[in-house]
Amino acid sequence: MSVQTQAPNKAFSGYYHRDVPEEDAELTHVGPGTPCGEYLRRFWHPVFWSSELKDLPKRIRILGEDLVIFRDGRGEIGLLALHCSHRGTSLEYGMVEGHGIRCCYHGWLYDVDGRLLEAPGEPPDSTLSERIVHGAYPTLDYHGLVFAYMGPPESRPDFPIYDSFELPGYHLAPSSRPKRDELSIDSANWLQLAENNIDVVHAVFLHYPEVARAVLAQHRPSANSDLSMDDYFNRGLPGWDAALARVRDEFQHEIIEWQESPLGVLATEARPSGDLVWVRLTDYILPNVSQFPPHRYEKAAEEVEFEPPDMTGWTVPIDDTHTIDFSFRHVRDGDSPVWSGAFAQAGNVKINRGVLRSNASLERSYEERQRQPGDYEAQQSQRAIAVHAAEHLGSTDRGVVLVRKMIREGIRAVQAGREPLRPTAGTDGRVATYCRNTILNVPSTNGGSARREQLRSTMRGIADAVLRKG
Ligand code: FES
Ligand SMILES: [Fe+2]
Repeated sequence: MSVQTQAPNKAFSGYYHRDVPEEDAELTHVGPGTPCGEYLRRFWHPVFWSSELKDLPKRIRILGEDLVIFRDGRGEIGLLALHCSHRGTSLEYGMVEGHGIRCCYHGWLYDVDGRLLEAPGEPPDSTLSERIVHGAYPTLDYHGLVFAYMGPPESRPDFPIYDSFELPGYHLAPSSRPKRDELSIDSANWLQLAENNIDVVHAVFLHYPEVARAVLAQHRPSANSDLSMDDYFNRGLPGWDAALARVRDEFQHEIIEWQESPLGVLATEARPSGDLVWVRLTDYILPNVSQFPPHRYEKAAEEVEFEPPDMTGWTVPIDDTHTIDFSFRHVRDGDSPVWSGAFAQAGNVKINRGVLRSNASLERSYEERQRQPGDYEAQQSQRAIAVHAAEHLGSTDRGVVLVRKMIREGIRAVQAGREPLRPTAGTDGRVATYCRNTILNVPSTNGGSARREQLRSTMRGIADAVLRKG
């Protein structure tokens, strides 16, 4: 008897779609000795908040390594392998001293560079302290974030200072540590969180309808048990449909392109608003840094020559399936460091966009997160490690494709014994970056496709000029 096979692209063919391929280990695994882990270890990464280093040492995990971080009495920061070189007790139970950290078990005292300063139980003529060096990594406290370099000492690059860090009239405000530790950690692989930052299209379909989702919640039986499904389908959904149609229509007028830049990938977007054209440039800086200009949820109202990034963020792997974000806000001197776009209101409905862009989302109930999903829900539910072989990429994923390609090139460069593409400082010691908003008055000469061409050439002109400055 012959068994009829069914093409997997037929309706009701779930049976043929069950297999989940393996994740792309080359791009996603970060532990010591893995190709991506070795690549990421060629860069400085933020690992902790400076203001949180007090009397108690902190146990952290970065790139699959368990570490302890502390600041001693001299103000020196130590980032040491967690387990004592003697017999393995965790240094998180150690004593932070005037000079270094002392293990609780037998009192071995380590300097911030890993040298053993004292093994008090050993006889005075012991040479242990000359022979033993404990694992330690160099650190740098920059504007309130502690950065570390965890790669081979001979490949250590200078700490890159981006030009956006030193804008006249602005200062850097570091992100702060959430109230609870689990709110600072994403349960997902680093790459899917990092590449989201160049996926500017998700902002349109996930974030723009946030207010419309909150309005719809007023008609959902899951939010108010007095309501019926009739309320949901007949009173709530028409409003939602109209809001989504508006988002979709406006998006059809938008132009988005991605290209390689000396730093990684540059995303360029152009949106019309009457005669004005809003051009938005977003930096993806290899391997895991992003810079965003302010998001203008309202339409552009006047010309703006240059609006700098309002955020620079790092997506730092804890291990293969956990990730932590650190960021600086670029705050205009005299302004509050709180993100000005954090809240939105429509009628009596108010939403906290800050929560929807972070794992502070976890503080909400499961049903609330289903009704109003944010970045955390979208990214963490891609699976602990997103499976690229199961994806079906479209034209709007070009930025993601470029980022993966460039990361793979970097990984393979390191595997071949070369240095990967890393940010290079100019003669002024600063690394040129490209992120910005520009709003220009470009009166429409004609509608339709002519207007689209006008937007495209305006956008490309700005991107070309900005890239040349580097
Ligand atoms: S285990 Fe740390 S001093 Fe003995
Ligand atoms: Fe987002």
